[in-house]
Amino acid sequence: MPDGDESNEDEPDKDEAQETGQTKTSPTKTSPMERTSPMEISGKTALVTGANRGFGRQLATQLRDRGATVYAAARNPAAVDLTGVTPIALDVTDPASVAAAAAATGDVAILINNAGSGTGASLLTGELDDVRLEMDTHFLGTLAVTRAFAPQLAEHEQSAILNVLSVLSWVSLPNIGAYCAAKAAEWSLTNALRAELAPQGIRVSSLHVGYMDTDLARHVTEPKSDPADIARIALDGIEAGETEIVADEISKQVLAGLSAGVRGLYPQVA
Ligand SMILES: NC(=O)c1ccc[n+]([C@@H]2O[C@H](COP(=O)([O-])OP(=O)(O)OC[C@H]3O[C@@H](n4cnc5c(N)ncnc54)[C@H](OP(=O)(O)O)[C@@H]3O)[C@@H](O)[C@H]2O)c1
Repeated sequence: MPDGDESNEDEPDKDEAQETGQTKTSPTKTSPMERTSPMEISGKTALVTGANRGFGRQLATQLRDRGATVYAAARNPAAVDLTGVTPIALDVTDPASVAAAAAATGDVAILINNAGSGTGASLLTGELDDVRLEMDTHFLGTLAVTRAFAPQLAEHEQSAILNVLSVLSWVSLPNIGAYCAAKAAEWSLTNALRAELAPQGIRVSSLHVGYMDTDLARHVTEPKSDPADIARIALDGIEAGETEIVADEISKQVLAGLSAGVRGLYPQVA
């Protein structure tokens, strides 16, 4: 995993500031730069979307076990079967539901955009409604939730957003092109919002992972990670202050191969 302490390059560090004579914007308030330092999960309030099953359920469980107060958000909150968490209704594609969840909370310092769809649609031959659903869930849904919760995240001295992305944010599989396009769009969103939210002291991180053993990948016959292991890596990454959490070998390989361009990533058609 790459060293994740990739602080906002626009912000001078303390030594740089001394050298350049730049001072912090306020002597009493922690600067955005310092707020991207490691953060403890214990004692924070966290919200996980899609927490009723799969990877989101693992994240909610482990956040709880690390001492966070957890909102387990789900389209159907009655489907949340965890103890010690607060179920809350949240459909990321429904603006009224997103607004209601933000209004019902107010103290969230860690937001995990995890909810995801897997229609399996090809871009060329799949149903356009399925293509739209992928974009609505992964891209517009993540954006809507982030916009709605950013004001309460900004209230905290330390706050963080983790977007659950994929190795498929970086490389596309043609048979599930709609999902890949949505994950790529969500990656781009993550990078833009990281820069936009840094001045508010909100750290935005991405998680990249290959197949995990959940319903979403139930038809996959290739090796799959245990979502519990990936959740542990993700939460360790949040605590360590990492902005890009690359959780498995395939994601590391693809990241390392990006500089090879199309020829390296798609040798069969280049
Ligand atoms: N599994 C993998 O191989 C893999 C690999 C890389 C990344 N990921 C990412 O990991 C995340 C979690 O996926 P998973 O593997 O845990 O899949 P999963 O087991 O199918 O769970 C998906 C979760 O998202 C929820 N969801 C779907 N649409 C929603 C909406 N509009 N609003 C709110 N919640 C919604 C589902 O709720 P319902 O129960 O109501 O449907 C469910 O809780 C996704 O972002 C996915 O892209 C997965």
